Amino acid sequence: MRVVCRASPSLALVKYWGKLERGHNLPATPSLAISLGGLETVTVVGTSSDGRDRVVVDGTERELGRYEDFLAAARRILGSGRGFLIDSRNGFPGGAGFASSSSGFAALALALARLVELRDGRPAFGLDLLSELARTGSASAARAVYGGFAVLEAGAERAEPLFPASHWPGLRVVAAVVARGEKAVSSRSGMAATRETSPYYDDWVSDAPALFTAAKKALAARDLEALGALMRLSYSRMHASALASDPPLLYWLPGSVALIRACAELRGRGVGAWETMDAGPQVKVLCLEGDLEAVKRGLREALPGLELLVAAPGGEPELFELPPGTEPPLPRSGLS
Ligand code: PMV
Repeated sequence: MRVVCRASPSLALVKYWGKLERGHNLPATPSLAISLGGLETVTVVGTSSDGRDRVVVDGTERELGRYEDFLAAARRILGSGRGFLIDSRNGFPGGAGFASSSSGFAALALALARLVELRDGRPAFGLDLLSELARTGSASAARAVYGGFAVLEAGAERAEPLFPASHWPGLRVVAAVVARGEKAVSSRSGMAATRETSPYYDDWVSDAPALFTAAKKALAARDLEALGALMRLSYSRMHASALASDPPLLYWLPGSVALIRACAELRGRGVGAWETMDAGPQVKVLCLEGDLEAVKRGLREALPGLELLVAAPGGEPELFELPPGTEPPLPRSGLS
């Protein structure tokens, strides 16, 4: 028996950056995120005959180290002693700052839970518990078990859904592939370095809740200009605190700066293009559906030949059983 989960990454509009010293993967700052519908991770899970775990991501077998804590938590939370076979594919560049760990660990938590329910006849696990399990893999994954818009409060074990995708169907996210390839400094070590060495870290953490509260209000009102301005403050302050680490942590490339400037220029011409960035050089731009073509054109004028992925607010992850002898679906890429 194999179970498939397709899930979309969770892009933070207000960023989580930094973990609490207590607990495991508890965020120091509250985050507000949108599910990037159109971009997808497809994860297939089954049980192993020898009780061992095996993890394949994008066709390459991975060291179990990164997954050990998560799989131990999965066995504990789901009450299972089984070993798992995991095969996960990203439709978009993985490990490159497109939040593949959020969709990856969310899909994995949901698929393992369904597998245990079916194989061991367990009653259905609640999404709140699975959000907690996903968080042990990657805190942003706690948000990705929900579609639409979700929040993860500072110090919270679980994320919460805020609005479904239908709250703002006309919203688009244009994700620009500034550079392919895995990022040099993972979000995990980048956050640790910032907390341990940046003199701006405490200010970043104490400033974040006000941005979060204001951004939730702007999102409720579907006010892109207000939300966009708050998003910009959130990623800029996150990166400013990281840049002040010792040694300095600079995720940006010249292409990132070119796109940030292109967004400013678009806004100067009355096109609502609001960028954000995560732990990598990629730039993601929020806009309304009616401005999508103008935004794509503006970004490609700044960087000719730029690869763009387009997302709209995504629905809840999908789960199904894979009939024997059938191939899982290919993950959608959002390529535009
Ligand atoms: O959940 P992680 O460990 O992949 O960290 C995510 C960090 C950011 O993408 C920079 C921000 C966020 O809230 O998703």
